[in-house]
Amino acid sequence: MNNFFFGIYPYIALSVLIIGSIARYERDPFSWKSSSSQLLRRRQLRIGSVLFHVGILTIFFGHLVGLFAPLPLLHALGISHEFKQILAMVVGGLAGIAALIGGGMLFHRRWTDPRIRKTSSVADIGILVLILIQLVFGLSTIVSSAQHLDGKEMVKFMLWAQGVVTFQPDVAARIADTPLIFKLHIVLGLTIFLLFPFTRLVHMLSVPLRYFWRPGYQIVRSRRTQPLPQHSDAELNQARLTAARRAAAQPTAAE
Ligand code: HEM
Repeated sequence: MNNFFFGIYPYIALSVLIIGSIARYERDPFSWKSSSSQLLRRRQLRIGSVLFHVGILTIFFGHLVGLFAPLPLLHALGISHEFKQILAMVVGGLAGIAALIGGGMLFHRRWTDPRIRKTSSVADIGILVLILIQLVFGLSTIVSSAQHLDGKEMVKFMLWAQGVVTFQPDVAARIADTPLIFKLHIVLGLTIFLLFPFTRLVHMLSVPLRYFWRPGYQIVRSRRTQPLPQHSDAELNQARLTAARRAAAQPTAAE
């Protein structure tokens, strides 16, 4: 059982996540959206959405660094296991509470507003409920972690996660003796990965980061005082002909 959930299930969940997301993008690109309900009711959305997204993103990057930072690197930087354990509990705990409050507001809005409820799919409501339960499990791990402030339990999870992504044999054994609440949290986390391609969570993969470094566009009206130079009919015809030839030489999207 331990071997299935922590040695095999991670690969099933990650494969469905990757292959499912690519397949959805290829087969059904118009369903790739966050399905925003902002248009239906704006009030209540803003605070809930900001708290939820800031909390979840902090947890996401916190988990990424916390689980995958190589141990020799932490050692070289002088970051002790004790310090890292307390940092995870404090930063993760605050982010978790923010995400839980924000997510609770989003759930309340989705459930109680008849217009939004009507436009919500089972997947929309279901994935939000799973994330809220996952947050409660995550926050509950803090109670257990507080009894292991030396960070030894945390190191087991790091070695497990790093072992999974580097295809090490028998990784499940690395966390076999850890408390049940961590195991429930990991299994539900993997299940969220597995369901990811079938939900609105796919919008995470198309965050428009490009906007941060795109060149600024400025549309201005011309201040030209002189008219543009006049062209003869022959010149205009020649220009049209060249453009048509160029267009004909270009392969079309259907080809
Ligand atoms: C497969 C995916 C996941 C794994 C392997 C995982 C693993 C862990 C581990 C090992 C801890 C304990 C850290 C420590 O204190 O030593 C933890 C804590 C926590 N997790 Fe996750 N987690 C996953 C997904 C998630 C998701 C999707 C959420 C949010 C929806 C989440 C929210 C939290 C929170 C709030 C905490 C408590 C604060 C903290 O210690 O950072 N986790 N997680």
